[in-house]
Amino acid sequence: MRFDVITLFPEQFRILSEEGVVARALKRGIADLVTWNPRGFATDAQHTVDDRPYGGGPGMVMKVEPLRAAIDAAKSAAAATGCESRVAYLSPQGRPLGQADMRRIAATSGWILLAGRYEGVDERLIESRVDEEWSIGDYVLSGGELAAMVVMDAVIRLLPGALGHADSALQDSHGDGLLDCPHYTRPEVIDGRAVPAVLLSGDHAAIERWRRQQALGRTWERRPDMLRARGLDAADWALLDEYKRGRDGPDTAQAAEQEP
Ligand code: ADE
Repeated sequence: MRFDVITLFPEQFRILSEEGVVARALKRGIADLVTWNPRGFATDAQHTVDDRPYGGGPGMVMKVEPLRAAIDAAKSAAAATGCESRVAYLSPQGRPLGQADMRRIAATSGWILLAGRYEGVDERLIESRVDEEWSIGDYVLSGGELAAMVVMDAVIRLLPGALGHADSALQDSHGDGLLDCPHYTRPEVIDGRAVPAVLLSGDHAAIERWRRQQALGRTWERRPDMLRARGLDAADWALLDEYKRGRDGPDTAQAAEQEP
């Protein structure tokens, strides 16, 4: 898979190739990253990439021409390697991304990520060159670079061979539309807190059942919106019911059942 990133700050992306899962995937050629600085595509002597907004107001707007030339160059370079890339613009106005989007993004062979700065980019560039507009959350970053890196990390770890265990991405939080269960390692007791006995039992079926129940319980407590979105089968409802009874006592379990 190939990422071309259009950014005024290509140096920021160095961190991705230094250490961790993404760095390893880049080294192994599981994913490729190329950065393109629109300043290099500005044709005036000052290499201007931004200008004042029509209609007035604070801040500057990124101009069409350097961005368009950078995107077109990235598209051609990707096409030369057999990659029909789609273009995504990272902005707070974009559609919020979830884990299902990350899987969809990972299934496309190439993406050109446009990281905006200043007040944004000229709308006509978005109309003419951008296929999708993405947000990583309801807050405003000072630029799209961090957002692009967040997307790249979440996507690259899904690619075959990127993680040590073939199934560890499946076991992630959100992998199955549920939050992850709690995890423990040695020592068995610390600060008076013991590891749940079932995890020491060696009974793999009981451990699986406990983990599923914890995942369901946590999702119900913390993210009822996720439970509503995915729905539960009868076996999961029964597990969740038992979790609620364990937590609140039998009287509150029935009332809470209606919540998600
Ligand atoms: N650029 C600035 N804020 C952003 C956000 N929340 N998501 C994606 N790109 C952004």
